[in-house]
Amino acid sequence: MSNRTFTMIKPDAVEHGHIGSILEKINSAGFKIIAMKYTKLSLEKAEKFYEVHSERPFFNELVTFMSRGPIVAAILEKENAVEDFRKLIGSTNPAEAKEGTIRNLYATSMGENAVHGSDSDENAAIEGSFHFNSSEILS
Ligand code: CMP
Repeated sequence: MSNRTFTMIKPDAVEHGHIGSILEKINSAGFKIIAMKYTKLSLEKAEKFYEVHSERPFFNELVTFMSRGPIVAAILEKENAVEDFRKLIGSTNPAEAKEGTIRNLYATSMGENAVHGSDSDENAAIEGSFHFNSSEILS
C-alpha cells in the first residue's frame, strides 16, 4: 500500500472554474498536496501520458481534450491514497459516480470527467514523475 497518488484537474473543470472547489474537496478528504502545478499539456505530451490507451477508440478524443487548455497536476499524500482518492472522485462515467463524488458534482461526460486519479501505486509513481522532478516534491 502506497501513501501517494497523482491527480490532474482536467481542462473541462478548469474551464468551468472548478479548481478551487475541487482542491477544497481534496483537502477536506485529508489529502496533503506535496507537489502542484498549473500547466498545459502539448498534444505530444498528452499522447505520451496516455500511451497505454493508444489502441482505444477514444484515444484521439482523449488527447485532443487533455491538450486543449490548462490543467492542474498534483501529487497527493494520504494513507491508502490511490484507493481513497478513487473513491473521492467516483466512477469514470459521471452517470455512475456516487452522489457527492467529484465526478458526480463536476464531470459532464465519460471523456470530460473533470479529474484524473491514478489506478495503482505503480502508475501513481510513474505519472507523478512524468510531471514533477524530485526537487518539486515537498513532503
Ligand atoms: P482517466 O481515468 O483519467 O484516464 C483515462 C481517460 O480516458 C478517462 O479518464 C476518460 O477521460 C477517458 N475515457 C475512458 N473511457 C472513455 C470513453 N469510452 N470515451 C471517451 N473517453 C474515455
